[in-house]
This record gives sequence, C-alpha cells and structure tokens, in this order.
Amino acid sequence: MEIKDKNVFITGSTRGIGKALAHAFAKAGANIILNGRSQISDEQVAEITAHGVKCIGVSGDIADFDNAASMLAEAEANLGPVHILINNAGITDDKLLIRMKAADFEEVIKINLTGTFNMTQHALKKMMKLREGVIINLASVSGLMGNLGQANYAASKAGVVGFTKSVAREAAARGITVNAIAPGFIETDMTEVLSDKVKEQTVEQIPLKRYGNVEEVAQTALFLAQNQYITGQVINVDGGLVMNG
Ligand code: NAI
Repeated sequence: MEIKDKNVFITGSTRGIGKALAHAFAKAGANIILNGRSQISDEQVAEITAHGVKCIGVSGDIADFDNAASMLAEAEANLGPVHILINNAGITDDKLLIRMKAADFEEVIKINLTGTFNMTQHALKKMMKLREGVIINLASVSGLMGNLGQANYAASKAGVVGFTKSVAREAAARGITVNAIAPGFIETDMTEVLSDKVKEQTVEQIPLKRYGNVEEVAQTALFLAQNQYITGQVINVDGGLVMNG
C-alpha cells in the first residue's frame, strides 16, 4: 500500500515501540491516530504533526469492546477511514505460573489478545467495505518459544499469532493483508524493568548479541504495510533468537 496520506491507527503509541511506529509512518507521509489509556497531550500530537502530517490523539481502553468501536469512530470522524491498524498496545505481568492469580492471567489476555480482537473486528468491517487495508499485530518471541515467568503473556501472544493467520485468510479476498511482528528483546520501558543479570543472560542467547531498538521494529512494520503480497506471516525482529525452519 502507498503510505502517503493514509490514516494509521496505532494502539498504545504514547511510548516505546508504538511511539516509534508513529514517527516512522508520519515520516513516510501518513496521518497518525495516537492512542493510549490516558489522555494524549498536545505535545505528543505536535511531535507527530512536525513531520507535516495530520495527527489526533484518541485515548481509551482497547480491552473494552465498545470503547474500541468508539475510538475508531472518533478517528474516522476526524480523519476519514482507518487504512492501517497496528495493534501494538500490550502489557506484561510476569510471575511463575504457580504464583499467578487467575486475575493476573486474565488481565494480560484481555488487553493483549481480546484488545487485538476488539480493534481488529471494528476496523476490518470498514476495510472490507473499502476493499483495502493493512493490519499489523505485535506478537512476541515469547508466544513462539515460551518464556519462564510469562505463561500469561506467551499465551496471549501465541493467541495473537493464531488470530493473525485466521484473519489473514478471511480478509485476503478483499485485498487486505494481516501480519504479525514478533519482536525479541527490544530496548523499551517494558524491558527496562528487567534486572542487569537477566539482561546479561538474555543478550548471551541472542546471536546478534544485543537488544534491538524500536526503530528496527518500526522499519519492519513499514515494510509490511507497503508490501501487498505478504499476508498471514509472523516476522521475527529478534537478532536471530528464534530461527524458524
Ligand atoms: P510499552 O509498555 O512501552 O508501551 C505499551 C503501550 O500500550 C503504552 O502506550 C500503554 O499506554 C499502552 N496500553 C497498555 N494497555 C492499554 C490498553 N488497555 N488500551 C490502550 N493502550 C494500552 O510497550 P512496548 O515495549 O513498546 O511494547 C509494544 C508492543 O510490543 C507490546 O504489544 C509488547 O507486548 C510487544 N513486544 C515488546 C517487546 C519488547 O522487548 N519491548 C518484545 C516483544 C513484544
């Protein structure tokens, strides 16, 4: 898809990977809908409009089905239809399974997986009518290989992978592509909380021997949005941590 002048809704784009996605797509000429659970500030919007594109902030909770619908409606009322949806918002709540409360499990599934369903269903209905659209979901290598202390998170991200492939099959006839990006360890607030010991141990396991940066994830999303013949795929951006056969 030609990115210029398209409207891109990026969930959880107040910081981290989402913020980098917003800048990368704005630099490519797209209008941006910033989203987070709390109010989006004028400064956050101004940072994006500095690229010479339109930008609005739409705050709300993706885990709430009706709120997801109203956020997409608000975006459309201001900028027109959403051409590209990036389901980026996600949380972790790490602990060993034997200490995990049912609520800890459910909360992570509700935001990472159900939130992705909520946003995708509402956006896809419109895209199907327009017969164009791109959906990119943020999965994780945890969802592919599992990770100690992340049974809830890994389950949610494995769910996102299955969801992506199923929706890709359903949407393909209308020319809509649906893909996932599975980042490995990326330098963000989410990984900042890891202890130095854990960081050292994880770097040891990464063939490229470093954490990735948010721009490397954003470049991958731009590539996927521009390519019309890739769908139902999971692209790992992980320094070689997971090598699929
Ligand atoms: P982050 O924690 O820095 O940012 C997450 C964003 O999501 C924030 O803007 C937050 O406000 C928003 N958010 C959380 N719950 C929300 C909700 N219910 N409704 C709306 N917005 C909500 O996260 P980071 O590191 O930038 O990660 C982005 C995505 O990439 C996530 O899906 C994460 O699981 C995935 N990922 C990140 C990795 C990393 O190493 N940082 C590795 C693998 C995957």
